[in-house]
Amino acid sequence: MTVHETFSGSPGAQRWPTLFSPFQVGKRTVLNRIVSTPHATGWGHGGLLTRAEVDYQVRKAAGGTGLVMTFGSAAVDPTSAASYGSISLWDERNDDLLRELAERVHEHGALIMSQMTHMGRRGNSLLSGIPLKAASDLPEEVHREVPAVFTEDELAVLFGRFGHAARRLMDLGWDGAEVTSYGGHLIEQFFDPNINTRTDRYGGSLENRVRFGREVLQAVRESTSEDFLVGFRMTGDQMLPRGGMSPDELVEVAQAITADGTVDLLSISLGTGATPRTTSIFVPGDALPENVAGAMGGRMKSATDVPVLVAGRILNPEVAERALTENGVDLVAMTRAIIADPDLPRKIAAGITPRPCISLNEGCIGRLYQGLPMWCSINPGVREPELDLFPEASKQPEASKEEGPTRRIVVIGGGVAGAEAAYRAAERGGEVVLLERTERLGGRAELAGRRPGRERWALYLDWLEEQLKSSGVDVRLGIEPTVEDVLALSPDVVVVATGSVPRWPAWAANAPTPVIDADDVVANTPQPEGPGKTVMLVDNEGGFVAPTAAEALASAGWSVRIATRFTSVAAYVDPTQIWWVRRRLKQAGMEFVTSVTPEHDGSAWSLIDLETDETRPAGQVDLVVYAGPRRSLDELSNGLTAAQPDLEVVKIGDALAPRTLLDAAAEGARAGAASVKPDLPAEETASLSAG
Ligand SMILES: Cc1cc2nc3c(=O)[nH]c(=O)nc-3n(C[C@H](O)[C@H](O)[C@H](O)COP(=O)(O)O)c2cc1C
Ligand code: SF4
Repeated sequence: MTVHETFSGSPGAQRWPTLFSPFQVGKRTVLNRIVSTPHATGWGHGGLLTRAEVDYQVRKAAGGTGLVMTFGSAAVDPTSAASYGSISLWDERNDDLLRELAERVHEHGALIMSQMTHMGRRGNSLLSGIPLKAASDLPEEVHREVPAVFTEDELAVLFGRFGHAARRLMDLGWDGAEVTSYGGHLIEQFFDPNINTRTDRYGGSLENRVRFGREVLQAVRESTSEDFLVGFRMTGDQMLPRGGMSPDELVEVAQAITADGTVDLLSISLGTGATPRTTSIFVPGDALPENVAGAMGGRMKSATDVPVLVAGRILNPEVAERALTENGVDLVAMTRAIIADPDLPRKIAAGITPRPCISLNEGCIGRLYQGLPMWCSINPGVREPELDLFPEASKQPEASKEEGPTRRIVVIGGGVAGAEAAYRAAERGGEVVLLERTERLGGRAELAGRRPGRERWALYLDWLEEQLKSSGVDVRLGIEPTVEDVLALSPDVVVVATGSVPRWPAWAANAPTPVIDADDVVANTPQPEGPGKTVMLVDNEGGFVAPTAAEALASAGWSVRIATRFTSVAAYVDPTQIWWVRRRLKQAGMEFVTSVTPEHDGSAWSLIDLETDETRPAGQVDLVVYAGPRRSLDELSNGLTAAQPDLEVVKIGDALAPRTLLDAAAEGARAGAASVKPDLPAEETASLSAG
């Protein structure tokens, strides 16, 4: 019995009937409408598929995803820049794993398609030493490398390469392949008259500019049998504020590209790879609306009459059902929602809340865009499959309980790290008490979640609370325990997740104005005493803390000047969010002062320029707010070790070293599992099977 057979008549299928209904694409049937669209993981090396990626994709099928689309930007030809750890479809060394992947996905009843592409000018030759080749010689703003231009003879070779890759996938048991133009890849570079300056039969009129894409699709169709699915992915709106193609022109492109009947499935999203800002729209973060591409998907469906898949921040079944029934698309991507919880389809079918993706992007695409492997901020199982909650999707939670005498675990601190540790230990059979100093769970994540647009953080914290409840953790709020209090609970293991406190810079002492912590500002924003009051917000952190405090202060009526030691404000916010963060700050009229550090003589503030070493007056300052590196709050763990040296005490999250949400969730999960199974190291970085 596959997971799909459990969906029929389920609460989810009754509530979202279209989402759980089958759909015929070409000559194949997808058992539900939920799709994981292609995404690069950055886990491949030298174009080779890894077993970790095979397991990762199979896991989605096991969780009930109807159509698993793999390998963002998989290359059909060695001349395509290998970036983001993409897979080389042309490399026959991948065949065994490709065959195994298709077989294992089919065992769960899902269909599997691979993306296929040539990146053209999108990429660089820094590692390969092979010059980029593209439609014409205009560089992209993101990678900034001038490409050489493909000759017509070289293009003719490329058609064969697309066809060959599709044929091999078919022979290896795959259901289909998606040719992509999306993201400003080579085919879009031909479409776009702002980029395509050719004067041959591939440039000029719309008919000429779509010719390359059409010939690629024809080659793929001719190389494969008629039941092999051929998909095509494209943008419905590049969202370039100046230049670029209009949505109307892109509708015409879609009509032209599908006119030959070569396309079984049209996948629509927004953005383009031409600029860093439009690149950040591919994977829409929390500054963009849910189902951001739904209306355009519906329009493309009407214009082409080809089945349409839409992707863009569809995170819950209500929105997915509406995209299907109101926008009129046929399939919905829930890609990040499934990264955050690969059991999403089977959970929503059963009426269970999945771990909700928070659309922060920091752990997945944000890492990928910085050349790092994709993980997930809140699902540690992506990076460390042994921390997957139900490693074999058919298992029930009870099956994962550890054998042996029950261990008593006391977790101190109810932030993300502590909550993760507590419910994971309880699920594995530990007897767990969680003590939290304040009256609510969530710690710094609760504060961070107050940022406008971050409504999903509250869903995540609710989900954590639900896990604590359902796993039977004894949660005690409003308790700040002493060493004696903890020892009185007779723990076998104490997990210390007490978080962090501000680390004040020397200049905060004897200052001419009050200096307060940015977190305190978010928790309880001070009101200015009258109009015209100015805050100097000193940012030594570079992430979201200062922007969030700045917006709270501006809303309260302060004039805000952000003074940072970095070369830009929000310098370390991930590339998909930085545009929206800085845009909001600028729109709120804030002043940015970069590469500076403050000092004072006890009566007035000044700023030292870190590039010139010159000092200048800081201007009007009525209040100083500080965001910077923090200090671990770990006194309790030191006290426990001193009082009972043989007690197992594990520090995690910020209490170990103040870092990110991803670190807190992963360390909590690891410590929770290890506390009931002592041979699993709790603090040590686990072997990175996905790195
Ligand atoms: C880590 C990551 C890598 C991605 N890489 C690709 C890619 O290489 N090619 C592609 O067409 N889309 C890529 N995408 C975009 C997804 O296919 C999808 O369109 C996007 O995540 C929006 O859908 P969602 O809101 O359901 O997550 C990527 C997404 C993520 C999160
Ligand atoms: S890292 Fe964040 S945005 Fe990406 S899938 Fe996980 S929760 Fe969603």
